[in-house]
Amino acid sequence: MSRLVVVSNRIADPRKTAAGGLAVALAEVLNNTGGLWFGWSGRIVDQTEVDDVHVQQAGPVKLAMVDLSKADHDAFYLGYSNGVLWPVFHYRLDLADFDAGYIAGYRRVNQLFARKLLPLLRPDDVIWVHDYHLIPLAAELRALGCQQRIGFFLHIPLPPPLILAAIPGHDWLIRALFAYDLVGFQSEADLDHFARYVESEAHAQRLPDQRWRAFGRTVHAGAFPIGIDVQEFTELANAREAVEMYERTKREYYRRKLLVGVDRLDYSKGLPQRMRAFREFLDKNPDLRSSATLIQIASPSRENVGAYSDLLHELESLCGSINGNFGDLDWMPVRYIHRTVARARLPGLYKASRVALVTPLRDGMNLVAKEFLAAQDEEDPGVLVLSRFAGAAEQLKEALLVNPYDTEGTAAAILLALQMPLEERRERHQSLMRNVRQQDVHWWCERFLAALAEARAEEKGTSWL
Ligand code: ADP
Ligand code: G6P
Repeated sequence: MSRLVVVSNRIADPRKTAAGGLAVALAEVLNNTGGLWFGWSGRIVDQTEVDDVHVQQAGPVKLAMVDLSKADHDAFYLGYSNGVLWPVFHYRLDLADFDAGYIAGYRRVNQLFARKLLPLLRPDDVIWVHDYHLIPLAAELRALGCQQRIGFFLHIPLPPPLILAAIPGHDWLIRALFAYDLVGFQSEADLDHFARYVESEAHAQRLPDQRWRAFGRTVHAGAFPIGIDVQEFTELANAREAVEMYERTKREYYRRKLLVGVDRLDYSKGLPQRMRAFREFLDKNPDLRSSATLIQIASPSRENVGAYSDLLHELESLCGSINGNFGDLDWMPVRYIHRTVARARLPGLYKASRVALVTPLRDGMNLVAKEFLAAQDEEDPGVLVLSRFAGAAEQLKEALLVNPYDTEGTAAAILLALQMPLEERRERHQSLMRNVRQQDVHWWCERFLAALAEARAEEKGTSWL
């Protein structure tokens, strides 16, 4: 059997935990399949020290990591990846910083990854590259002679063609996708944007079986919605830390219904909009005020990117004003925690909550929505309020779907969720869980790798750069 080689910028020791859907999902997959995981070590070092690859065995997974110099980190990670691609792919042209210097750093780090990875590869390896940081990696690997099968999965949304076309050099970026054998997206909507872009901007020819031909090469593309490891999450929910968390939270809030939000502190997550909707709910429902509390956990993320610190201040000020206006001596409506919570405790918190607010303005998938469902007591489950703009909404249709920009509509959904009768909660939860169980992280991985095994690289040797 071929060895699986996973490549992503963020990598995590699969025996530990990290906030961020990519690292969580890949850790689950690799714990199961074994293989090599190549990525950034998380360290920023002097240019002269960048050369080493650090190798470490973590259970069945070999981790191989490179350091980045400060200049590369700033241009590649803060600059092009998180200052250009992240905002534009989340439909936020207003937040993009199209500094012409970033692209060179992006290419340099992709070249560095290709150079360092190549000697570690075996002829029958299957290579699976993840996310927007590494779009040109296959092209760089091919330029060095790599013949192995290479797949790419985009964890974040792909916007419609005219938004994508706002990126200077967008044609280069999308052309690089044709160096892969298979390109995977989270949703049918993202796949449709890809098809429309390559057909209109690159004049690609659409072939049967979800294949597109352009630049002298054929690429397969598909929608592969990512899931969670339900079994692992259920075990986590039954373990001591989660049970203690559940009991402590229930004791502390025995008179109240809890609402919960768990996110990285990111502008794509719609946190200020969520707070405004909760404020609207409190305002419109004075009789329910002191019986509802929102616990919002927002883990620090990308704090050196400007848009993120603006968001932090906006959120802090909103939470402060809601508590100031609506709180009482014995009750604060919002508990805002700007930290990462140990993964082992999360299921306890989810289970103790009557409602989850998962209301991103845009999200590739959103795994918190699925984790919340998996942690519920089937006899007395909570209600998922889910943004229609999360990839997960394509699958989780029995959630209370909301438009997060619509403050009043979201406030009305909060009320509905808090008052939903037990029978309806059970019915919705049961059908949602059918999907979460069936389309889990292993289903995602198996489907993608099966499609990659089928995908034939039809032309080789095209010059990619
Ligand atoms: P994203 O990948 O954009 O961060 P997802 O919802 O897909 O969003 O994945 C987030 C993952 O990180 C989930 O597994 C979630 O449990 C975890 N996570 C997010 N925020 C926190 C937090 N504050 N503390 C602990 N884990 C978190
Ligand atoms: C999202 C992205 C991942 C990223 C994660 C955490 O899930 O899709 O690629 O790893 O956020 O962000 P960070 O910048 O800390 O890696």
